[in-house]
Amino acid sequence: APGSAPAGPLQGRTVVITAGGTREPLDPVRYLGNRSSGKQGAALAETAAAAGAQVHLIAGIMDVQAPEHAGNITVEHIETAAELQAAVQRAAPEADLLIMAAAVADFRPASYAAQKIKKTDDGENPVITLERNPDILAETVQQRRTTGTGPKVIVGFAAETGSAEADPLELAQAKLLRKGCDLLVLNQVGERLVFGRDETEIHILTAPRLTAAAAGAAAAPTAAEAVVTTLRGTKHEAA
Ligand code: CTP
Ligand code: CA
Repeated sequence: APGSAPAGPLQGRTVVITAGGTREPLDPVRYLGNRSSGKQGAALAETAAAAGAQVHLIAGIMDVQAPEHAGNITVEHIETAAELQAAVQRAAPEADLLIMAAAVADFRPASYAAQKIKKTDDGENPVITLERNPDILAETVQQRRTTGTGPKVIVGFAAETGSAEADPLELAQAKLLRKGCDLLVLNQVGERLVFGRDETEIHILTAPRLTAAAAGAAAAPTAAEAVVTTLRGTKHEAA
């Protein structure tokens, strides 16, 4: 209940956290999904609540139990990227902080088959056509820019393997600028790294805007600093 939150660096703040993976239906029995366990988002929700925040956890598909019954956490379950988008849009105006830990499907099947897709005898294999999902993080940043309202601090996540051309940190740096969020948390992923694990190593990248504000000792970064403290305080339980 409001008022019963423990004192802490996020006292009086409303924190919206998305967690887990989205699931994009193909037909009544099948979907496209991803390996997100939701551990990181759940750990962040618990840590933010312990730091005094009122937490709204928007939970996708998770291997772990969403902290439904923890004090100061309300859980909203969603399945598709479209549902996640609607939930974030509803929650963003009231949020001081938005933490986008969810693994949002970049694509969804372009059409949904109302009946189960069946094998046929003509030897033809079905082709699944995909279409892009909205970029919820970039869109929320854009809305804040155009309306001047919305979360004071927006945190994006990235899981990168790196490639021959670029290492994970370079990719994350570019993603931070492309998304326009204030902070970006980088998880390095690989065959045996991050997914489903209890511990991970993260890099927290800060947008130039925030760095400049912090250098000027403005009041604005206080919330960002509280988030960074919170992010560091979690066990960083894996993606
Ligand atoms: N995200 C989002 N909406 C999407 C895809 C991603 O809001 N449709 C958010 C994620 O929750 C995460 C951040 O954007 O906080 C980065 O996600 P990521 O998949 O790393 O970024 P993409 O822009 O999809 O880039 P990539 O092509 O590397 O997957
Ligand atoms: Ca993606």
